[in-house]
Amino acid sequence: MPLTHVVESQQFTVPLLQELFERSRRMERVVARGGTQDYRDRIMATLFYEPSTRTRLSFEAAMHRLGGQVLSTEQARAFSSEVSGEQLEDTIRIIGGIADAIVLRHTEQDGAARAAAVSPVPVINAGDGNGGQHPTQALLDLYTIWRERGALDGLSIAMVGELDRGRTVRSLAYLLSKYDRVKVYFVSPPEVQMQPDILEHLDRHATWYELQPDLHRVIAEIDVLYLTRIKPDRVRERASLARYTADAVTVGRMKGDAMILHPLPRTVELDPAVDRDPRARYFQQATNGLFVRMALLTMLFDEP
Ligand code: CP
Repeated sequence: MPLTHVVESQQFTVPLLQELFERSRRMERVVARGGTQDYRDRIMATLFYEPSTRTRLSFEAAMHRLGGQVLSTEQARAFSSEVSGEQLEDTIRIIGGIADAIVLRHTEQDGAARAAAVSPVPVINAGDGNGGQHPTQALLDLYTIWRERGALDGLSIAMVGELDRGRTVRSLAYLLSKYDRVKVYFVSPPEVQMQPDILEHLDRHATWYELQPDLHRVIAEIDVLYLTRIKPDRVRERASLARYTADAVTVGRMKGDAMILHPLPRTVELDPAVDRDPRARYFQQATNGLFVRMALLTMLFDEP
């Protein structure tokens, strides 16, 4: 299936994911050699209506490492013609007429889909709305796991935090449902647990999951601890926050070959003392975003 836009994780098949992972591996070698000029005739535009450090800069670095050029609007809400009332669709038509790909972070859940519907060039969803998706984050998360384990079937993972609005965990759950014998623990206060649409999707794909109110109950049996941000003011019982946060003592109970991931930025849920643990992979995970985004851009640009 050709890749035209990247709007949601459900678009990816296992063979397409495998191709992306293998290309990402090759991109690691390309970067180690100082990059390539193979895509020097390409221009990528980044259009961000919300703040970003990792996603925008790694996409821009990816395009530079491929030899291409970048057009950037990092505060699109203030510095694009939306200020004058321009609709997203018109903005996308204009940018699509001057660039070869558009990376969009939007405030609305359907922002990327609306953009893709009118764009003459590939649109990549760099995160849309609260409770939308962030497919390229999930792709780099999965690449980070695949790169270390060599396989994704049989994975046991705990996704922890404020899951109802978590676009990274939503995108990752869709991807994991494509693999066999995966076990997903959603660890969250009940009031901010994973949304029913994701649970129904996992049911339809016969993916095992469990809703868990306490990380400590599952920490010893998982292969991947995937932490996400949690805002204390969204948790009814403040005293329960320790059930959704990780410090050196908590991760000390994990399996020796387990991994600790976080899409970052972090707040209270991940103690900086964990950074010294050899199983902490979140900084490597962020770096992997460069390779995966390079690979993704080449897959979009190479389409006939
Ligand atoms: N993980 C992530 O999306 O980070 P940014 O908000 O910095 O892009």
